[in-house]
Amino acid sequence: MGDRTFFVGGNWKMNGLKPKIDEIIQFLNAGPLSDKTEVVVSPPTIYLDYARQKLNSNIGVAAQNCYKAESGAFTGDISPGMIKDCSCDWVILGHSERRNVFGENDELIGDKTKCALANGLNVIACIGEQLEEREANQTMDVVCKQTKALIEKIGDNWGKVVLAYEPVWAIGTGKTASPEQAQEVHADLRKWLAKNTSETIAQNVRIIYGGSVNAANCKDLAAKGDIDGFLVGGASLKPDFVKIVNAKE
Ligand code: PGA
Repeated sequence: MGDRTFFVGGNWKMNGLKPKIDEIIQFLNAGPLSDKTEVVVSPPTIYLDYARQKLNSNIGVAAQNCYKAESGAFTGDISPGMIKDCSCDWVILGHSERRNVFGENDELIGDKTKCALANGLNVIACIGEQLEEREANQTMDVVCKQTKALIEKIGDNWGKVVLAYEPVWAIGTGKTASPEQAQEVHADLRKWLAKNTSETIAQNVRIIYGGSVNAANCKDLAAKGDIDGFLVGGASLKPDFVKIVNAKE
């Protein structure tokens, strides 16, 4: 059995001007945050440096996206090295909003993940099925295909990857996957990873759940054996996020 530190990420998405960001930083720094949980928050790109400078050092900072190259003529984008240069160690890649609103495909997400890892970043790699896919019993097909696309680019380089299972129908909708639904996918994914990478990777990789996690449902989800933490959107903007960080205690 892998020794998997509980992980809670807060994805602020495209929210917060400085007054709001200051408010979030204040409740995060005040905590108290369980020292058994790894906490990483993800401000909009333009505030990465600002947030990093103000947040306590026990709180990690992630960019919400980056490109697959180290530099060059890619107007509007940022590189993994720029994220590191702002003293941030993480990036979220393949979020369903990047896939569905901005049209990113599995191959691009794999290339980005490879480039981020090569530049020393940790990656929160997101996968998840749409509602129609779940209703057609295609959940595992979809999440395995998305994960396979990562393996094709990164091989067995999973030491700095956290896999976020985020059913698209549960994101921002208030419809959480039940603890049983999420546990089932996580456990099946772990089995699939054992076959397609190695038993060690499967036991050590943290598989976190995202999709309408809040202070009321986090404890039941956290109690499941294969749910190693959360990626939290809406609720990460509110002081309740502290309760979610401490869900495992
Ligand atoms: P939500 O978002 O918690 O607002 O559903 C989760 C996510 O997109 O990571």
